[in-house]
Amino acid sequence: MFDRITRLDAYYPTRTERLLVERQHSEIASAIGSGRTVFEYGSGSSEKIKQLLGLMTEPRGYVAMDISREHLLENASALARDSNLSVGAICADFNTEIHIPETDLTRDASWLGFFPGSTIGNFSQDAAVRFLNNAASTLGQDAKFLIGFDLQKSDPQILHRAYDDPEGVTAAFNLNLLHRMVRDLGAEIEIDAFEHEVRIKEHPQRMEMHLVARRDTTISLDANAFHFSAGDSLHTENSFKYTPEEIDALAAQTPWRREAMWTDPAGLFAMCLFSDS
Ligand SMILES: C[S@@+](CC[C@H](N)C(=O)[O-])C[C@H]1O[C@@H](n2cnc3c(N)ncnc32)[C@H](O)[C@@H]1O
Repeated sequence: MFDRITRLDAYYPTRTERLLVERQHSEIASAIGSGRTVFEYGSGSSEKIKQLLGLMTEPRGYVAMDISREHLLENASALARDSNLSVGAICADFNTEIHIPETDLTRDASWLGFFPGSTIGNFSQDAAVRFLNNAASTLGQDAKFLIGFDLQKSDPQILHRAYDDPEGVTAAFNLNLLHRMVRDLGAEIEIDAFEHEVRIKEHPQRMEMHLVARRDTTISLDANAFHFSAGDSLHTENSFKYTPEEIDALAAQTPWRREAMWTDPAGLFAMCLFSDS
């Protein structure tokens, strides 16, 4: 479902990120340097990595990591088959410190962490600091880290359309959480009692996704009953938007220092390259 979102006209982040990397590929390549092994956090369909590997000088290998095991194995295997690169896969939770097992691929690797798509914006500030500190331990000395950040916007319509698209794909993505609670956890939910809603908040700027009860309803899970009055909401996701100053303030609480930043002409999105100081 996320892949469908990335193809929507209204969803600017994926398109903008791809175009800005394309436009500035030679600068990005020389800042990354040669012979690096990429470690991608939340690799999903391993689509964006193809563009990055295409611009890198002599990449040594690629390790995909994701919490979604089947999706991870399917996509990492496809990449290994279709490229002549050494590929590894680690199923793990990026909210924890990840240990990379030693293999021919990972031994003595000079790591480039890769975290595109502004997924870092889904973390609270505290969680983002923890994530970056854990990544510094995982990737070790001399690592670099390329991270996509969605930037703050003055036009709320751009944000609103991206998270509440006219085709209703993001609404279906949000409501899927309830379907998964029913399917995977055995919850009892009147799914049609809830609707997708986005809220733009400031200080710090963020998009919030909610599932709002249209009428009084109850979610039953194990021995618990959660009552919702009409208008009550389940807050399902945050997507924090950053300024360059906020990106640096975040990095200042970690071992990472920003070496470079590339943005699109409209200043919607930024790719930042950090090194481990
Ligand atoms: C928004 S998608 C981004 C996918 C891809 N990197 C991109 O930018 O198109 C987020 C990915 O992170 C994975 N993910 C979500 N929570 C995770 C977690 N706690 N640990 C590891 N992966 C996670 C999801 O399965 C999904 O593949």
